[in-house]
Amino acid sequence: MPDFIVTPWEVSGEIDYEQIIKEFGIEPIDEKLLFYIKEITKEIHPFLRRKIFFAHRDFKWILDEYEKGNPFYLYTGRGPSGNVHLGHVMPWLFTKWLQDKFDVELWFQLTDDEKFLFNQSLTYEEAYKYSYDNALDIIALGFDPKKTYLFSDIDLSGTLYRNALKIAKKITFSTIKATFGLDNSANIGQIFYTSIQTVPAIIKSIIDEKNVPCLIPHAVDQDPHFRLSRDVLPKLGYYKPASIQCIFLPSLQQGGKMSASIETTAIFTQDSPKDVKKKVNNAFTGGQANAKLQRELGGDPSVCSVFKYHFMLFTLDDDEIRNIESRCRGGDLLCGECKNNLIQKINSFLKKHQEEREKAKDKLDSFLIKEKIDLKAMIREKLKRL
Ligand code: TRP
Repeated sequence: MPDFIVTPWEVSGEIDYEQIIKEFGIEPIDEKLLFYIKEITKEIHPFLRRKIFFAHRDFKWILDEYEKGNPFYLYTGRGPSGNVHLGHVMPWLFTKWLQDKFDVELWFQLTDDEKFLFNQSLTYEEAYKYSYDNALDIIALGFDPKKTYLFSDIDLSGTLYRNALKIAKKITFSTIKATFGLDNSANIGQIFYTSIQTVPAIIKSIIDEKNVPCLIPHAVDQDPHFRLSRDVLPKLGYYKPASIQCIFLPSLQQGGKMSASIETTAIFTQDSPKDVKKKVNNAFTGGQANAKLQRELGGDPSVCSVFKYHFMLFTLDDDEIRNIESRCRGGDLLCGECKNNLIQKINSFLKKHQEEREKAKDKLDSFLIKEKIDLKAMIREKLKRL
C-alpha cells in the first residue's frame, strides 16, 4: 500500500509531490518557466515562487501562443458537495490573478452532476443547491463579470451533453477503469462523467468556431480527467488543454489535507471569528510541550500546520515569512503569538469575504449562465398550433 492516495475521488495521507510528478507524468514548474512568466506578467505570484502551483502540462506552449497573439482562456471548476473552505479558495485566488494579468475569459464549472453521482448521501436537489451557494464564494473573490462565465452542469446540460457525446464515444470502459480505478460496481453515470468535465476545455472553441487554447488551473488530483481530455480532444480536431497544478492546503490537524468532511481540519468561508480562533488554537503545531522548552529548543515549522497556513495563504510577504520561520526555530516566537497572528489574518480575510459574499447574492445573474427550457410551455405551444 502507498502511504498516500491522490485520485479525483480521494485524497489522503502524507503526499509526496515529487512522486506525483513522476507517476502522473506532469512537468515541474522550473526557474526557466518562472522567468518566462515574469517577463509577461511583470511580477511573480507568491504561489508560483513558493511552488504551491508546482507543476503543469504545456504551460510554456500557452505562453508561446499568447506571445504570438493567440490568447488562451481559463477553465476551472468546483464540485459543489458542501460549504467552501480555504483549501478550495486557494487555487481560485490564483485563477483570479491569471485572469487579471492576462486579461482573459474564465469558464467556471460547478459539477453538481458529478457530486450527485459520486456522493452516495447527496441528493440531486442538494447538489444543485450547493452550486448556487458555492457560486457566491466564487463571485466574492472579485472575478470580472464581463469575462467570467459560471455555470452549473445541470443548468447547461444541453450543451454539455451534446458535446460530451462526441468525447464519450472515444473513451472505452477499460480506459475509465484504468484511469480512475472504477470497477463493475460503479454506477453508469460515474463512468460517463469525465466526458462532461472535458467539455469546458473546448467550450470557447465551440462558441468562437475556431480553436482557442485553454489553460486549466486545478489541484493535482484532477489531472487524470485532463490527461484523458488531452488524449481525446486532438482526435476531435481540438488543441490539447494545458494545465497548471497546485498542491493541497494541509489539514489543521496532523496529516492529510483540509477536508470538508472533518470539520476541525478546515476553515470554512462562513466560519465566525470565534470558530476560527478555536480551530487555530487547537491546530497541530511544530512547537515544544511548553514555553520553557520552546525558548530553549525552538520549534519546527516544517511540520507545523499553523506555519503552513502562514506560508500558503496568509503571510505572502517573503521577509515576513522568513522572520516567522527564524524566530520560531530560534525559540523566540512562541506558538501563542504565531497562532494569534494567523487568527487575525484569517479573520480579516473572512470579514471582507463574507461581506462580498452577501453582495454576491445580487450579482448571480451577472455571472451565471443557464439554458432555460420550459417543456410544459413548449407542449402548450405545440398543441396550440394544431
Ligand atoms: N471535479 C472537480 C471537483 O470535484 C470540479 C471540477 C470540474 C474542476 N472541472 C474542473 C476542478 C476544472 C478544477 C478544474 O472538485
